[in-house]
Amino acid sequence: MRTLIAGNWKMHGLQARLGEIGAITRSIVAHPSAVDVLVCVPATLITGAVQAAGGVLQIGGEDCSAAEAGPFTGDIDAAMLRDAGATSVILGHSERRQNHHETDAIVAAKVAAAWQHDLATIVCIGETEAQRSKGNALKVCGDQLAASLPDMPPGARTSIAYEPLWAIGTGTMPTREQIAEVLGHVRAALDLRFANAAQPIRILYGGSVKAENARAILATPDVDGVLIGGASLRAEDFDAIVEIARGRSAG
Ligand code: PGA
Repeated sequence: MRTLIAGNWKMHGLQARLGEIGAITRSIVAHPSAVDVLVCVPATLITGAVQAAGGVLQIGGEDCSAAEAGPFTGDIDAAMLRDAGATSVILGHSERRQNHHETDAIVAAKVAAAWQHDLATIVCIGETEAQRSKGNALKVCGDQLAASLPDMPPGARTSIAYEPLWAIGTGTMPTREQIAEVLGHVRAALDLRFANAAQPIRILYGGSVKAENARAILATPDVDGVLIGGASLRAEDFDAIVEIARGRSAG
């Protein structure tokens, strides 16, 4: 399984920031490796980012509509992401679930649309602090996983990102044991549901990942990569994490 290092710029980035994409691309060219590197950017930056990435670095979107072209003002569908040059999309991020009331069913419909358009998907799940403290983390994540994937064979290059809400943008991290427990649960659920087709599905950890903790996270059982918010905004920070992943895949 190739390691996936994915960035999530969220609602950050004017055209001027595309220089960071150029810098990340140059670093990948200078250090070829078996690590898959992806940066998901705001829709307005996709075309420019794809140009700056020159096919070396993958560029993704941060959401797409479950619908196909139609009267949906302000929405962007999976075909439009592909048309702009994106190869991936993040779906069901907790910020969309919370701020845009996206239910598991909505997320599953979006995932189906993305799979139909051959977009690699990163489907996010994760519990709140209150759910964890009540001992419900595994159940919450398992239920979200089950209901956020559509009833069809998983699309190529599907990833699941475990992002505990209390770890996103907070600097607070779960222990490696906590990560391994949830990821083991996710892996078992995927195997049960999709049998052999589950094998290529990568499971990522996300939430306060930075160069200082990436080595330990990437060495945690069942971790196939990371989804990085804040530390993906500057090429220097992001490259440091890609560099750690390179060492992992080489060793
Ligand atoms: P963070 O965000 O790395 O800034 O915690 C991760 C995410 O929300 O995907």
